[in-house]
Amino acid sequence: MKITSKQLRESWIKFYESKGHVNVGAVSLIGDGTTGVMFNVAGMQPLMPYLLGKPHPLGKRLCNVQGCVRTVDIESVGDASHFTFFEMMGNWSLGDYFKKEKTAWTYEILTKVYGLDGDKLCSTVFEGNESAPRDEETASLLKGLGIRPEHIFYLPKSDNWWELEGTVGTPCGPDNEWFYPMDPDAPAPVFPDDYVEIGNDVYMQYRKTETGYVPLENKNVDTGFGLDRMLLFLNGLHDGYKTDLFAGAIGTLEKLTGKQYDADEAARKAMRIVADHTRTTVMLIGDVNGILPSNTGAGYILRRLMRRAIRYCRQLGVEPAATMCAVAEVFIDSVYGEAYPLLIEKKAYILDEIRKEADRFETMLEKGMAEFEKCVNGISRKNAFMAQKDPAYVPETVIGGKQAFRLYDTYGFPIELTEEMAAERGLTVDKEGFDAAFKEHQEKSRGDVHAGEAKGGLESHSEQAIKYHTATHLLNAALKAVLSPDVNQKGSNITDERMRFDFNFSRAMTPEEIKAVEDLVNEKIKEDIPVVYKEMSLDEARAEHFVGVFDSKYGDVVKTYAIGDFSKEMCGGPHVAHTGELGHFRIVKEQSSSAGVRRIKAVLE
Ligand code: ALA
Repeated sequence: MKITSKQLRESWIKFYESKGHVNVGAVSLIGDGTTGVMFNVAGMQPLMPYLLGKPHPLGKRLCNVQGCVRTVDIESVGDASHFTFFEMMGNWSLGDYFKKEKTAWTYEILTKVYGLDGDKLCSTVFEGNESAPRDEETASLLKGLGIRPEHIFYLPKSDNWWELEGTVGTPCGPDNEWFYPMDPDAPAPVFPDDYVEIGNDVYMQYRKTETGYVPLENKNVDTGFGLDRMLLFLNGLHDGYKTDLFAGAIGTLEKLTGKQYDADEAARKAMRIVADHTRTTVMLIGDVNGILPSNTGAGYILRRLMRRAIRYCRQLGVEPAATMCAVAEVFIDSVYGEAYPLLIEKKAYILDEIRKEADRFETMLEKGMAEFEKCVNGISRKNAFMAQKDPAYVPETVIGGKQAFRLYDTYGFPIELTEEMAAERGLTVDKEGFDAAFKEHQEKSRGDVHAGEAKGGLESHSEQAIKYHTATHLLNAALKAVLSPDVNQKGSNITDERMRFDFNFSRAMTPEEIKAVEDLVNEKIKEDIPVVYKEMSLDEARAEHFVGVFDSKYGDVVKTYAIGDFSKEMCGGPHVAHTGELGHFRIVKEQSSSAGVRRIKAVLE
């Protein structure tokens, strides 16, 4: 290795500190809900308010190395260059320096610190459109630094403009991208085919609106260089899984499977998938706002990754739980633990959750695969039979939506997994049919829930039932605070004597956790907080982090209840006026309700 991941991280920070930047450190990978993006996809994301003009407490020059999770092309992972987690090395000017300093520093770090040949660097700038002018200024600064004029290219918005996709109100602008020949010794590399992008400097001076772009008061710089990519490239490698970030994981997989990464193409693909997805799993479960696999939102993406890895472990002929845990341990102990100490603290928990999801899916996977084979065989039998009868018959190539839904509902196969398995057999899946079956099922179970609630006593709106109802809100918030923000209510049932509350969580709560939840609810009761009712638009509710079933339509007005900042739920009520009315809260029992769902029985005394 010419440069290790640790050296690369440190040299980036050291260089920008020497230019007056403060290292702001990394934040959670889990989106905070304000941008509508589930995961942190870029280093600038947590800094958005500051790029829009809010003063940052640590000044106007910042830098860090920030983990990012991008899950748009999970199915492409398996080749040499796709990852779902990566680290972005970044630095920012918040209305401080601009193009002159930035072009000079990027040139300096690339040529002096990382030893790239300035003669070989290529750079692209924005060609201009109705929103922003052609970036002649950056081009001439680059020439002044020594970049050859024939190595500077003007490209359109699709290439040289950076913004968070789909989000209005965010800062954005033209960017200057940096390229180097994939093979630095090639005699006459041609741009762009023979080059690799190594990073970019965004000149963030606009705010995206519904209709276009408005200039920001501050002219900012937002720089991002992918650490994984740079590492690969600076070490002259062509396979992202050969860097020191992955060497340990791949070595472990070779040992456990007895297969050779370099010699066996199918095993290589499977090893990459297991390694990448396990790394992202470690990062998401081990995050400060860690999540667990579930059937909705970010938890579902995590489940997709884990189940895809589990399937490929089986393909490699190894036991998924043990294999993924062994790989996870390598990442925690030898690769990321030093830079992300929380992973070490949460190691036992992370491994435990991996084991549980693997065990949960293992049993279903085998039966589900048999079911899948049945579908495929059914299609081939029908095709063979029909072809005999009618030579002009066009063979069937689609797995039915109902069958895909059965694989999802009964065997826990994420639809994307079924689609991937189908593609391997030259088939597709009727996604519309799947969506329809999904919706039908959802409507049916929602009907059941409402019927259950009415039977449960809320219908009577007795004084006691209303108290219990407010207590469910406090309990919901307390569980999120004590166990995990990913905990969500799965159902409740209230009588005048007690409440029952179901929530997603994959193991029994410890006596300490039960006590902590009880204490927290009682503390909030003692504080006698007013319970505030408000109607608002669904968007507002979302922006203010109200939780609840987001099944209303866009533009709908929703009813919300807030108990200070502690609990915010969309809910039809009714509720008590102050938490002090509830008396004393006690958990009588905590038990399993169904797979991944726990049930609490509690009383107010
Ligand atoms: N925000 C820019 C990127 O993510 C730097 O590439």
